[in-house]
Amino acid sequence: MGILSSIQYVFGCIISLVFILQTAHGNELLPFSLTEDSLPLIIPVNDQEIGEKEGEDIDVDEEEEDEAAKKHAAHAEDIPHFPPIGPLPPPTIPADNPMTAAKVELGRKLFFDPRLSGNNWISCATCHNPALGFADGLPRFRGGPAAKEGGRHSPTIINCVYNKLQFWDGRAPSLEAQALGPVQNPDEMFETLDNVVRKLSRIPDYSNEFKKVFGTGVTADGIAKAIAAFERTIIYANSPFDRYMQGDVNAMNESAKRGMDLFLDKAECIICHNDFTDNKFHNLGVPAEGPIKEDLGRYIVTKEESDKGAFKTPTLRNITETAPYMHDGFFPTLFEVVQFYNVGGGRSENKSPHIHPLHLTPEEVSDLIEFMKALTGELVQIKYEAVPVIYPNLPENF
Ligand code: HEC
Ligand code: HEC
Repeated sequence: MGILSSIQYVFGCIISLVFILQTAHGNELLPFSLTEDSLPLIIPVNDQEIGEKEGEDIDVDEEEEDEAAKKHAAHAEDIPHFPPIGPLPPPTIPADNPMTAAKVELGRKLFFDPRLSGNNWISCATCHNPALGFADGLPRFRGGPAAKEGGRHSPTIINCVYNKLQFWDGRAPSLEAQALGPVQNPDEMFETLDNVVRKLSRIPDYSNEFKKVFGTGVTADGIAKAIAAFERTIIYANSPFDRYMQGDVNAMNESAKRGMDLFLDKAECIICHNDFTDNKFHNLGVPAEGPIKEDLGRYIVTKEESDKGAFKTPTLRNITETAPYMHDGFFPTLFEVVQFYNVGGGRSENKSPHIHPLHLTPEEVSDLIEFMKALTGELVQIKYEAVPVIYPNLPENF
């Protein structure tokens, strides 16, 4: 380790230490100010400037440049205005569910508690397992009493606080609205809310904690609020990309830097993955696999023809942690995903006009993947336990 990087390392440790102390003693759990008016802070990106800062000297074939310019002029009308990518902004917290340390801790317990399911075996963490990037590593989820395969891939809940809508089809408007869905879904946790409330009320720790946090006994509304508050702490930040954007020009390697240029320009990923997700819905023609022969996606919610087969753009942050990819887990690796884009996506009458062959060279494909790798950050805080499989010594008829 060179002297400079040692200094950086020590400095980094001091910052983390200050951060841990703050979170351990403060009432609030996050280092951001969590008020409604803490508007997301998006740092504009000017790739030109970044290129200059690095002193990069890229040889560009003039003919190629002309062709690229022509192609972009032709696309210019198609390409909507999009916000730039930048370091992670502070999250927005709804005014009616403020974060407190006690609420987050209660939510954490509930998230890992299999007693929220019909057979006391399945917790939220079964499918959103911290050891598997808060997903389950399967192409499509398995749940219900017989662990039957479902139609969709379990998305990660890392950084889900930044989603404007939840689920692949965006049918839940908030984390609070989402949280009770899996509990009651016959293919997931197959339990009734009344029964969960009854079961948890019999556990003195829960009764006491609900009293402390909400001033009531165990309620379904309190369960949803506490779980949502916990989920809002699952933030991975400080990725090489974040550090690069904050001025550490060595945080990303050369291949990732070239990948970033491709992402913003030739490969056009930025059109939909601006700030890594535009929170909108698009049809890429991803082939159907699994029990659902034709998943209509966003159409199920809006009944708009144009939404047929359209799914929410997933964030690309921490994407290396959450293979396989797409709403039905069709692609096992990032390489296959990029190849899919490179050939112009799949077949669908309703395919997005922004999906077309990209003509990326094999080197460009690997640069793009290297850039996506640089989007993997670190869990900012929260502790979590190993996923419990079953709670021993449950009372009879629990
Ligand atoms: C049996 C597997 C399973 C269990 C258990 C489960 N989930 Fe999920 N979760 C999924 C799947 C699959 C989806 C995507 C479903 C869809 O889009 O239709 C999902 C989606 C989500 C999302 C939306 C993420 C996004 O990016 O849109 C959140 C948040 C979430 N789950 C939280 C929870 C919570 C909280 C629990 C426990 C109360 C839970 N899940 C239990 C499989 C599961
Ligand atoms: C037209 C909008 C659009 C463009 C352009 C686009 N994406 Fe996507 N991306 C999406 C949507 C929508 C999905 C989810 C599709 C699905 O599941 O059917 C997705 C999924 C992904 C996934 C899988 C994410 C996961 O969690 O499963 C990766 C990786 C990805 N895109 C990378 C890229 C890269 C790299 C580019 C540029 C070459 C790109 N995307 C261009 C909209 C887009």
